[in-house]
Amino acid sequence: MSQDWFLPIKQVIQAIQSEAVSDAATLERFRIQYLGSKNILKPLFSEIAKVPNELKKEYGQLVNEAKQLAESKFKELSESIADQSSHADIIKPDLSLPAADINRGSRHPISIVMDRIVDIFSKIGFAVAEDREIEDDWNNFTALNTPDDHPARDMQDTFYLRDFPSLLLRTHTSSVQSRYMTANKPPIRILAPGRVYRNETISARSHCQFHQVEGLYIDKNVSMADLKQTLLFFAQEMFGPDVKIRLRPSFFPFTEPSAEMDIYWGLKDETDHRITKGTGWLEILGCGMVDPAVLQNCGIDPNEYSGFAFGMGIERQAMLLYKIPDIRYYFENDLRFLKQF
Ligand code: DAH
Repeated sequence: MSQDWFLPIKQVIQAIQSEAVSDAATLERFRIQYLGSKNILKPLFSEIAKVPNELKKEYGQLVNEAKQLAESKFKELSESIADQSSHADIIKPDLSLPAADINRGSRHPISIVMDRIVDIFSKIGFAVAEDREIEDDWNNFTALNTPDDHPARDMQDTFYLRDFPSLLLRTHTSSVQSRYMTANKPPIRILAPGRVYRNETISARSHCQFHQVEGLYIDKNVSMADLKQTLLFFAQEMFGPDVKIRLRPSFFPFTEPSAEMDIYWGLKDETDHRITKGTGWLEILGCGMVDPAVLQNCGIDPNEYSGFAFGMGIERQAMLLYKIPDIRYYFENDLRFLKQF
């Protein structure tokens, strides 16, 4: 039986081809086995002397091929290991984790309540009219039937501009009434939301800046019944269909007759007792029929037109709706407060 001289080399070639290494230690084992000083190819080279002459050439070529294969495989394996280890310290992201929350802003409670009031009145045709916060004496007071020596000026302690004594920070959004009536012809149906200022000591219940929404409706044959129905509609939309309202006679220089509107808040808990002074009723706005003198001051003929007006504070209503105990929270920019809305 003739000897297969090539078989051992073919087996070594096959073994090299199927080698795989996972780390530096197995790579080193590969190197020692096939390329080290006592590698398994060495004895095959020595065999050449014994191989019959006619096979020597072929045998030599095959052994050299095996050696080259071992070298190129070693190079390939060491590169793949180096590649792996250079990525080992990169942390793979866990794609199944929930995403981090983005930091969203929130609306200020005053803006939320103001927008809600605007929405309610827009359903019955009131359009928004805005105007300046630095106002002149005429539009804030005199046109509204409150001349210089009028005792009603004491109701609103005013910030005047030091270098411009006829200018002031508006004390109410009623100033938009006179501006709008002077510039527009009836029918007029507007809502004027905005910030107002009064020189008041800051406490839990009052501040030197706050917000109001003013309403004004001027047309032919507008009556007190229209006013009452409009305010009832508002109260029901704002506080729920079961809300009760009452109009108490009051005084404002720019309306005649004048009234204040209360809503029935109830006496469910101790806070209700405190904020309603034990009555269950809470005042939320002032209103009345626009005084003919005001119409005249603004260029509207009181014999042809009549109208009603109302003005309400926002802070108080937001305090009720969100159970905010102190008016100062609104203006302190404390994120712990603001994030709740
Ligand atoms: N301007 C008044 C205030 O700030 C509120 C007010 C009362 C507005 C009666 C009106 C009104 O339009 O008719 O206290």
